Amino acid sequence: MLAKDKEKPKLAEVVSITAHYLRNPLTIIRTYLEALIFEDLGKINQKQKEYLLDALENVKRMKETVNQFLDIFLVEEKRYKMILEPAVLGDLTDEVIGDFSLLTKASNCEVFFRKPKNLPKVLTNQLKIRQVIENLISNALKYKRIGRGKIEIALVKSGKNIVFSCKDDGIGIPHKDFKKVFTKFYRSEQAIESDPSGAGLGLYINKAIIELSGGKIWFKKNKDFGMTFYFRLPIAQV
Ligand SMILES: Nc1ncnc2c1ncn2[C@@H]1O[C@H](COP(=O)(O)OP(=O)(O)OP(=O)(O)O)[C@@H](O)[C@H]1O
Ligand SMILES: [Mg+2]
Repeated sequence: MLAKDKEKPKLAEVVSITAHYLRNPLTIIRTYLEALIFEDLGKINQKQKEYLLDALENVKRMKETVNQFLDIFLVEEKRYKMILEPAVLGDLTDEVIGDFSLLTKASNCEVFFRKPKNLPKVLTNQLKIRQVIENLISNALKYKRIGRGKIEIALVKSGKNIVFSCKDDGIGIPHKDFKKVFTKFYRSEQAIESDPSGAGLGLYINKAIIELSGGKIWFKKNKDFGMTFYFRLPIAQV
């Protein structure tokens, strides 16, 4: 038992160092690709742009995988810790929607974002909550039905919390799977068909992040099509 306990910190170090060494080169590749795409180094043709955008998309995906790899390890080890700070959820959501704009267009989806003015700040970790919003929007985009899609994102104040919601009109999740949605590696049969690349880890990690901020994450099946995912976070005391 002692020997096993002694091994754990070493493994944790290996995981975080590996993640670190993978993340930095990926950031550099991303910066260079963006410089080429934005034509900082001279004009490029349409075909070159297409290839570079595809490369950029894949670099982003690799970075997400590296982050997930580190997160999953820490959650499993019950050593996932976050520094909480006041954050403007509306601004973070705007940024993520902006980051997805190319993909949204390519997926033939429209995104609407509704938020009241002067919403108070929430207490959370900005980087991590960004990751949650990214996964929820990415899921809404990935699990759409054929044809045009609509994603409605909203923020509302509810008592001492802010509630985020992301409603889509996609393929939805079957009732029989509801209990498994936040478990590790869960993927519906339909989701595997429509996008084989997912790992089924996003929502599992999202739940840990939200709960560590003192919040809650849940979902409902819409009456007509698709799902609505919600999370709530406590308003920061200032
Ligand atoms: N908006 C949605 N519409 C339909 N199914 C969804 C939606 N969000 C999640 N799901 C289902 O829940 C599963 C788990 O989602 P989760 O985000 O954890 O994993 P993933 O998207 O498959 O992979 P990744 O680890 O890259 O996020 C999905 O594979 C899909 O079956
Ligand atoms: Mg996902």
